[in-house]
Amino acid sequence: MQITGTGHASMRIDTPAGSILCDPWVNPAYFASWFPFPDNSQLDWETLGDCDYLYVSHLHRDHFDAAHLKRFVSKKATVLLPEYPTSQLEDELRELGFTRFFKTVSDEVHELDGGLKIMIQALTSPTDGPIGDSSLWVEHDGIRVLNQNDARPTDLSTFAALGHVHAHMLQFSGAIWYPMVYELPSVAKTAFGKQKRERQFDRTFRYIDDLNASWVFPIAGPPCFLDDQLWHLNDIFGDEGNIFPDQSEFISEYAKVGKTNGVVLLPGSVATIGQTDCATTHPTDVGAFFAQKENHLKAYAERQRIVIEREKASWSHPEIDVLAGMKAQIEPLLEESVYLAKGVGGPVRFDLTDPDGVVVESIVVDFPGKEVRIYDDEKVRYRFQTERRLIEHLLHIGEGDWVNSLFLSCRFTAARIGQYNEFVYAFFKCLSEERLQYAEGWYESQRPDAEDITIGGWTFQRRCAHLKADLTRFGIVEGNQLTCQLHGWKWDLASGRCLTAVGHELRSAAAEARPDA
Ligand code: FES
Repeated sequence: MQITGTGHASMRIDTPAGSILCDPWVNPAYFASWFPFPDNSQLDWETLGDCDYLYVSHLHRDHFDAAHLKRFVSKKATVLLPEYPTSQLEDELRELGFTRFFKTVSDEVHELDGGLKIMIQALTSPTDGPIGDSSLWVEHDGIRVLNQNDARPTDLSTFAALGHVHAHMLQFSGAIWYPMVYELPSVAKTAFGKQKRERQFDRTFRYIDDLNASWVFPIAGPPCFLDDQLWHLNDIFGDEGNIFPDQSEFISEYAKVGKTNGVVLLPGSVATIGQTDCATTHPTDVGAFFAQKENHLKAYAERQRIVIEREKASWSHPEIDVLAGMKAQIEPLLEESVYLAKGVGGPVRFDLTDPDGVVVESIVVDFPGKEVRIYDDEKVRYRFQTERRLIEHLLHIGEGDWVNSLFLSCRFTAARIGQYNEFVYAFFKCLSEERLQYAEGWYESQRPDAEDITIGGWTFQRRCAHLKADLTRFGIVEGNQLTCQLHGWKWDLASGRCLTAVGHELRSAAAEARPDA
């Protein structure tokens, strides 16, 4: 089995039974903040994209590069689709022209042509990626690889149970905005960053120990930052609080815990995995490359300057009334939100600036009050400051996930009262009806006493058995039939059987039949 490094989390897996291209990412992501490191734009993408299978692990923009997929990846490729609760990944890939899909069942081994076996584990909590992240396990002729990607399963026992893994690819570096964007004294920021950097390595080493693979490949980061405004985020200044250590840094930290089986893939490196060996070729000397990292980044930034300027020029939409736009998009969702709104528990303020950093508008998303309004000199739970034109752009394109756009861009600053609040970011990644309902239902289902409701003489579970819509809002009962209006699915309330799709049984009973009804 051959693994070709194609940059960041991307790789091409070649076997005699077919090739799988994973997460190809070349174009800048998140408001032109993140670029693949090292530069992978010079690879022969026409040839790499001529593959049998495509695996896109999830919808984060450093894994799902729509423009690149559209232009370079063969539409004859069969997409290996993780089992996600919503069809958004499939829908977006179909829009790009892909028509062949192999829908996997999470944690189930599937045998493809030629004896190629795969298993995709899909993680689906609201905190997993853009509501969904996944890992791909592949086996051919007794050789097994796990592309864990940046997914964070509680453990790797499901993969370990399938036999010894020869190559384990996983994330080791940062992929978040914490703590850099927080308004903190620099000493505190460095201390938090250092802790975070250490935790990232610890977590990576724990996964590696869990699986005990023959070879370990550090992948899925770090990105690099080529815009002058974000240049300081690159790990080239000897800052111990920088959360974006690179692959060579990983190898030296890994050596400190006594391990020597780490393999770095540059774009264009090829590793041939056998039962007992891993022969790797590189397009250039790896040590020399990392020694010249700053020069690489400077030249890369020069080449991409025009791309960044072009992107920046597309953000401004001064005709957009941001307050009205945020109200229209967010207020209906606040109205429906129970768990997320309660979890946030206070107002969240957005200070919007002109490109020179002067605040021109201050807007509050008031979670307890369920409204979006002008800031009223009150105490807030979180305060974000960002350029107004970024929000204009999000509203212009109708973005439903501000984590997968604004927050990951790091083009903002933040302050908060109290601890980190996962609900704030979970809410802003759910700015669509479908996602919000799913996240609300997910939190609801975590309660041991998941709630029942009674409508039209029937008592049934409050959360829809499809994607967890709140049936007090979306459920219509006619006779013994329930219709959930979010997607129009129907259930027979006498049996709980779903009339629209296989499975998805609903807990239901006639109200009077229940002693506690
Ligand atoms: S959430 Fe889809 S039909 Fe209810």
